[in-house]
Amino acid sequence: MAVLPIIKIGHPTLRKVAEPVAAFDQELRELAENMIETMRVNEGIGLAAPQVNVSQRLFVIDLNLIDEELEAKAYVNPEILASSGSEKFEEGCLSIPGIRADVVRPTHIKVRYQTLEGETVEEEMEGLLSRVFQHEYDHLEGILFVDLISPLQKKLLGTKLQELEGAYSIR
Ligand code: NI
Repeated sequence: MAVLPIIKIGHPTLRKVAEPVAAFDQELRELAENMIETMRVNEGIGLAAPQVNVSQRLFVIDLNLIDEELEAKAYVNPEILASSGSEKFEEGCLSIPGIRADVVRPTHIKVRYQTLEGETVEEEMEGLLSRVFQHEYDHLEGILFVDLISPLQKKLLGTKLQELEGAYSIR
């Protein structure tokens, strides 16, 4: 397993719509394993492939720290089929270091995704899993959580965000 470099806000890959995963092969399993390792080392609970500069529809979530029964898991070609409710929760992102802000999102979601073996699964989610799933799904659409915060919060974070984008877009 390898720890991969995480790209930061300002990098163009984070703004691309990611491509569907077509091959459920050893390469995909290795990418997912490396993403899980990278997420753990960086103490994250979710990581999307575009964050390691791979523009593919895949992300990993690990809520083991919060619930011992949950193992780190990969979600391939995910879709959000339905959503309901609304709640505010503070989010952060490994691609936007040092910034946390409240984001309003649906509470419950119904999702469909594929496993690393290519099996299709439908599942209903709520709580933190629903929250992280939606955040990571956005990464596949080129959306970052700071796009979803209130205009006032954005204004408050403005300079800090611009500094981050400026610092990282040079790379
Ligand atoms: Ni993120």
